Amino acid sequence: MARKPSPNRFFWGAGTSAHQVEGGNDRNDWWDWEQLPGKIRDGDRSGAACLHWDRYEEDLDLLRSLGLDAYRFSIEWSRIEPEPGRYDEGAIEHYRRVLIACRTRGIAPMVTLHHFTNPRWFSALGGWEVARNLPHFARFARLAGERYGDLVDVWVTINEPEVLAFHAYDEGAWPPGVKDRARALGVIANLLEAHALASVALRETDRVDADGDGKPALIGVAKHWVLLEPLHPWWPFEHVSAAIQHGVFNVAVARALRGEPIHLAIPGIRPVRRQVDALRGSSDFIGVNYYTRWMVSLFGKEPRQARPGAPVSDLGWEAYPEGLERALMECAAFGLPLIVTENGIADASDRIRPGFIRESLAAVDRARARGADVRGYFHWSLFDNFEWNDGYHGRFGLFAIDFAKADRPRSPRQSARVYADEVARRR
Ligand code: FCB
Repeated sequence: MARKPSPNRFFWGAGTSAHQVEGGNDRNDWWDWEQLPGKIRDGDRSGAACLHWDRYEEDLDLLRSLGLDAYRFSIEWSRIEPEPGRYDEGAIEHYRRVLIACRTRGIAPMVTLHHFTNPRWFSALGGWEVARNLPHFARFARLAGERYGDLVDVWVTINEPEVLAFHAYDEGAWPPGVKDRARALGVIANLLEAHALASVALRETDRVDADGDGKPALIGVAKHWVLLEPLHPWWPFEHVSAAIQHGVFNVAVARALRGEPIHLAIPGIRPVRRQVDALRGSSDFIGVNYYTRWMVSLFGKEPRQARPGAPVSDLGWEAYPEGLERALMECAAFGLPLIVTENGIADASDRIRPGFIRESLAAVDRARARGADVRGYFHWSLFDNFEWNDGYHGRFGLFAIDFAKADRPRSPRQSARVYADEVARRR
């Protein structure tokens, strides 16, 4: 069994999300989106994904084999509540078995309640645009607290509210495919409010301190923290544009998470202001998802691009692991403890990832030495998976998966060993 954790433990983990790995998640909006022509790169569909629904025990053994002690994953709302108010006991029990499998291996689970996918019925009701839908999510959080609180101490209510809102309601690249920036801002506000309501529900229902560190529920949002810089530093308008994007995407969300009023402003668009009292005290930590920096450009057709000449991942994102230090320092300024809830790189050949991992962890070390209160690091991802509208192109795994084979064999990349060694060195 696991050692009794100290109150100041540092989580070393890896992450996944339900829709990306489980397979057969056919009751949510993403499944429907994948069936539409032209939405997913090369027409990929999540389909059987990584068969993680059936193979979670083996996958937890893989995680353990790296010496990790924490696993971030999401429970799929559409499986648990296939119709409003109707619960699938089989699905609820499944996730209990996953949680028990974590605990028996000495793995602390970090459970995400919402990782991009909505039950089909929730989308049909207008999804995150409709404020009166938010109590549905709070009810789901309450159920999670009641049914899993004895096994879970660390919760992520919502994954990347700002990414979901912009991809789905501004760029139209994700379901429901809306292209309207003003509506995207409204969705961010609703997602922040949903986090606050879910946090209240979890605090009321999860009163069991599962791992004996004195804290029954640590609650946060996983916030995508992106670095934005002007592509042409001599051009003041690009500085202004980068600052505006940083303000709405990073700063406004972080402020709300620490309890300030929601204030989302982009020039030319009606700003969103909202006071949500429940945001105060809603977050015990900010989850930091850091991947890259983007150069903001006001010329040409790409509004954001990788730094010219920089090494890039298979998805064209700059490999800039040092940036994690800056991301953490910027985020630490909001006064909440931090957990790196995602950090990784799409690199099928594994040429860049070993160095990326070493550099990223060195960046975490430096940020901590400078006073950032970082409580954990979760690499994204434990294994290759369905990378949303990039389909099976972005290979983020410490373990590679051969998707051409029906049984989806897993094999460790060199990076898996590198990560294990780096973690061992820091224990
Ligand atoms: C993040 C998502 C995660 C994964 C990585 C690459 O934005 O939270 O599901 O897609 O990017």
